[in-house]
Amino acid sequence: MKKSIVIFGSTGNLTYKKLLPAIDNLIRQKRLKKDDRVYLLARHDISLKQYIEDAKKQVKEMLDWTVLEEVLEFVYFHLNQIEDYQKLNHRLKDSGYTDNVFYLALPPKLFPEVAKGISASGLVTKGDASKRIVFEKPFGENLESARTINRELWRYFDESQIYRIDHYLGKEMIQNILVVRFANRIFGQTWNHNTIRNIVIIAKETEGVMSRGNYYDKIGALKDMLQSHLLQMAALIGMTRPKTFQSEDIKDAKVKVLNDLKLDSSSVVFGQYNGYLDENKIADDSQTETFIFAKAHFMNDKWRGTPIYFITGKKLDEKRSEIIINFKDDTNLNQIFSNAKPNNTKLVFKVAPEDGVKFQLNVKQPGLSDEIISGHLDYCHTCNWVGNTTEAYEKLLFDVLNNNKTLFTRWDEIEVMWEIISEIQHMNIPLHVYDDFDHLKEIILTEKGVDIDAL
Ligand SMILES: NC(=O)c1ccc[n+]([C@@H]2O[C@H](COP(=O)([O-])OP(=O)(O)OC[C@H]3O[C@@H](n4cnc5c(N)ncnc54)[C@H](OP(=O)(O)O)[C@@H]3O)[C@@H](O)[C@H]2O)c1
Repeated sequence: MKKSIVIFGSTGNLTYKKLLPAIDNLIRQKRLKKDDRVYLLARHDISLKQYIEDAKKQVKEMLDWTVLEEVLEFVYFHLNQIEDYQKLNHRLKDSGYTDNVFYLALPPKLFPEVAKGISASGLVTKGDASKRIVFEKPFGENLESARTINRELWRYFDESQIYRIDHYLGKEMIQNILVVRFANRIFGQTWNHNTIRNIVIIAKETEGVMSRGNYYDKIGALKDMLQSHLLQMAALIGMTRPKTFQSEDIKDAKVKVLNDLKLDSSSVVFGQYNGYLDENKIADDSQTETFIFAKAHFMNDKWRGTPIYFITGKKLDEKRSEIIINFKDDTNLNQIFSNAKPNNTKLVFKVAPEDGVKFQLNVKQPGLSDEIISGHLDYCHTCNWVGNTTEAYEKLLFDVLNNNKTLFTRWDEIEVMWEIISEIQHMNIPLHVYDDFDHLKEIILTEKGVDIDAL
């Protein structure tokens, strides 16, 4: 059956930076065939040639535009005109495209209107599994708006047809977390508060908001990162073994542990980088946070007393996204090995920019000395891999084309993630203007008593 992807918002950053390169890769790997189609919808009356010329200025990767041109079709489209949806429906049917993905690469406030048009025109009929609809994050702006959007969507579509994207779930190492945890028995008995001292989830960026000020200023780090990517990572680390490794059972296990997760609102630090207010399209008096630190706990027997620390922000000292599992020491460590390094054993899931797993442990220094040093067992996920590894969006597009929902978020996941941050959203947390990460570390240490370097 011929497949099509219909992109609403084809002149946006997401399409240029992520979707077109992903489509190019899918074609190279013959996962999209020459008679499949990608319809690019936009409110500009231009030709496909013109679209491609504009896109070439935005896309960084070297794409095979000649091959791409064969599958791309440009559609001049107005989101608020039902006739445009009806014309598109005829065009798809007349060309024999009945297995269709509708991708909303649009600002979230347009989701309800477009969903309504897609449904009213018959482009998607409720319950028809050959028609899927993809929504980008953020899904809503708070618990209430997310519920309102979702209620709207459920009027028109079955949950089985709705694909909510959190692109972190498409990253190789995020997919690898469950494999490392559950395909290696040594972690079975040790993955709990008895053995694990704390969990640190970090997503640091060196860049500022760049050209995305308009979007970011309304969102901030709490919603852009913590509510979605970081909580998803926490769920994958904290969940118990699912009944099976099928999509729904994994989601059940994630929702269960997320329901136990409580943020300690008194621990939260908000920061805004110095110079943020001078960036393009940022309100002069913006109070948007570009950094957040928070401590949380899973309130259950498995994790009793093991804190989780979340650290994420822009304009920091390094680009690094990692999950660090810090293990406890043997209580007699120093009696047995007086020069062992305390709190030295850790497992690190490296998510970006490299992907891999690192295990750090106490080892003897080579040679005549009795010194104990830190040793590292370092697995690089991609270094020895012959062939391309997939980028997140390529994997996610491939899965939605093949009706595989494992890496997409179910409504109850989104709902509980909004619930977790809801209290903080309603609090008036002071905003610290920071020059660098050291500045923030000092605030976290002096105000919250947490020494980030020692975590
Ligand atoms: N960019 C990323 O890396 C990224 C990552 C994760 C999630 N997302 C999510 O993906 C979605 C799109 O993001 P983006 O960065 O591509 O945003 P963007 O650069 O602002 O592009 C938005 C697209 O929506 C169109 N649009 C906006 N308002 C419209 C209207 N009233 N009528 C018709 N078209 C309209 C724009 O068309 P015009 O060109 O005509 O204005 C453009 O094609 C958002 O939900 C965002 O949160 C983006």
